[in-house]
Amino acid sequence: MIRGRWNRCENFMRMLGIETTCDETSLALVDNGISVVAHRIASQEAIHRATGGVVPSVAMLHHVQALPKLLDLLEEEEDLSKVDCIAVAHTPGLIVSIQAGLSFAQGLSLSLGKPIIGVNHVEAHAYSALMSYSDIQKDALLQGKGPYPALGVVISGGHTLLMRISSPLEMEVIGSTLDDAVGEALDKGARLLGLPYPGGRHLEIMAQQGNPFAFPCLRGGRSKDNPLAFSFSGIKTHLWRLLKLHQDSPDRDERSFKEDLAASYQRAIFEDIIAKIDVAIRQVRPNSIWFGGGVTQNCTLRTLIAEKNNSSSKVTEEVPILWPSPDLCSDNAVMIAGLGCHAWNEQIRLRVEGRSCYQGKLSLLNREFLTKVVASPKYVKKQTYAWSSNSTGRPQGR
Ligand SMILES: [Fe+2]
Repeated sequence: MIRGRWNRCENFMRMLGIETTCDETSLALVDNGISVVAHRIASQEAIHRATGGVVPSVAMLHHVQALPKLLDLLEEEEDLSKVDCIAVAHTPGLIVSIQAGLSFAQGLSLSLGKPIIGVNHVEAHAYSALMSYSDIQKDALLQGKGPYPALGVVISGGHTLLMRISSPLEMEVIGSTLDDAVGEALDKGARLLGLPYPGGRHLEIMAQQGNPFAFPCLRGGRSKDNPLAFSFSGIKTHLWRLLKLHQDSPDRDERSFKEDLAASYQRAIFEDIIAKIDVAIRQVRPNSIWFGGGVTQNCTLRTLIAEKNNSSSKVTEEVPILWPSPDLCSDNAVMIAGLGCHAWNEQIRLRVEGRSCYQGKLSLLNREFLTKVVASPKYVKKQTYAWSSNSTGRPQGR
């Protein structure tokens, strides 16, 4: 059962998390939804640099190769027979990458004789903020108040979402992007400016040299139907036009022009996000804001939000903010295992109460869904060691 001020599980539970939704392969062991026991991650960033973006089939292949290696590393640290359940990220993401994780989870489930639960990857991103602070830190931040309702802000290369959070298992989307995700817009902008992959990181470095107010015409898009909806296709086209104009009739040094453009482009995107967070705060009236996703690593964004603390904005003046720790910003299995604990506890509670099964968004995976992929525990074990022995070098761990 989940009880206590910070929803820590009263009954001990060790969850094995599996994350393969995009280009990070990750396994983690988490106790009681909050304490990280072990975490292993293999990044494919260097692999996708050559193509300037993630190629799904290549990502899937590397997930299949990395998962058994990471499992071996995890087994060296901890006894996997003590795992109570397996949580796997089952949506949203690249279908073929997710399938690699699901197949592996199913194999492990059969091999270890443990149940599987599916976890929504985006909701786990929001939950990662809650995992990044100790209970004492959270109590101090929230000054004795509870965290709910909370406003979830997930900004990454694949997602841009605002959510009303009533509990770890009750997250309602109130705003999302109509086209590109924020990280995608930053990456594509960086590509237009001739920067290498991953673009967002290089754009941030270039923007530090430029004037963020040099091009005030750059602005994020708006929707008439929902003031909380994002749109970044227009600003991206605007950036391309400004670059084209400069190419046709250069009137100044190209380097400083691009630095100003990068700074203005990044500022416009972040100001759009902050403006919509302000609107969401008025709507949700949250006790806390939970940030999640890879874009939260951007120091300029964090500084912009911190600066709001000194202004009349509600973003930080009245609402405490929980940021994910650096290792939980990008895709990781810690957040999957953490939220998986809550989902599995809910499933147990419903069974005890005699109700059929957990009907929330974090649906249980149907065991039959994957039985055709992996035939037997023997097959899984054999394949696991075959992959390991063929490996060259160990995956990157952190
Ligand atoms: Fe993600």
